Amino acid sequence: MNDAKITVPALLARKQGGPKIAMLTAYDATMARLLDEGGADVLLVGDSLGMVVQGLPNTLPVTLEEICYHGRAVARATHRAHVVGDMPFMSYQSSVERALESAGQMLKTGGFEAVKLEGGVRFAEHIRAIVSVGIPVLGHVGLLPQSVHAMGGFRVQGKADADAERVLADARAVADAGAYAVVLEGIPSELGQRITESISIPTIGIGAGPACDGQVLVCYDFLGMYPSLKPKFVKHFAELGAQIVAATQSYVKEVREGSFPDAAHGFASAPKKQPAVETGGKAVLGLPPKGYGPASEDS
Ligand code: KIV
Repeated sequence: MNDAKITVPALLARKQGGPKIAMLTAYDATMARLLDEGGADVLLVGDSLGMVVQGLPNTLPVTLEEICYHGRAVARATHRAHVVGDMPFMSYQSSVERALESAGQMLKTGGFEAVKLEGGVRFAEHIRAIVSVGIPVLGHVGLLPQSVHAMGGFRVQGKADADAERVLADARAVADAGAYAVVLEGIPSELGQRITESISIPTIGIGAGPACDGQVLVCYDFLGMYPSLKPKFVKHFAELGAQIVAATQSYVKEVREGSFPDAAHGFASAPKKQPAVETGGKAVLGLPPKGYGPASEDS
């Protein structure tokens, strides 16, 4: 696999051809390193961390500081993938100035290469201002998790004709404002295709059908580790949740019965010093056995 760093121009070029964009969320260094090694093109530190990391019912309480904390961990472990951070609820909505400050803080202290924000026509001005200072913006239209209460739940958007026109107008506004790509969440596949064919920037779908220029999933979802919610668009590419439970059961059993740790997982003491040998008045200390090396035992 080509391991050149994925850049914004490289992602934009995917619209003209080349492989589809494979994006996943990540929230910590260990997961980021594995997903990067697996070839994910984009890693998003999503505000979904409120739900899958913090156990909250929605993304609204997540703060800018929390996103930046997780961003630093992900950025440190990522070499190839493009790293994007979600702008948390109320870190950009209240004014263009607020949006600029928050986006700037995310690049300065979160290790991000771009920011993502939810909303179309209503936030086009915010996107334009952030892009104008050199910060790449990933848009997000359709189902907007930060508007969960206004939408009456996590509901598919754009099913009726008029609503589909609204979502299309949002995607166009995001593209016109200078975003380099846009996430399409929770819309009919047909609308995902129509938007993808109507705008000049890549579309990255999550529950938006196969025609999008790329796809994104939450890492705990695609690994089968988040059983509390399984929307229709989620596919488990592994069942790590079940494997973790089984591994824990084995560990608990072995600890209780005393079979773990065994000799292979323990440390040996340093060999006892040999007593001094009498050699006609001179004392010679016993040498340690050949090959004795404490360092390898300590790790
Ligand atoms: O927060 C998140 O993880 C997201 C993706 C699902 C697109 O916004």
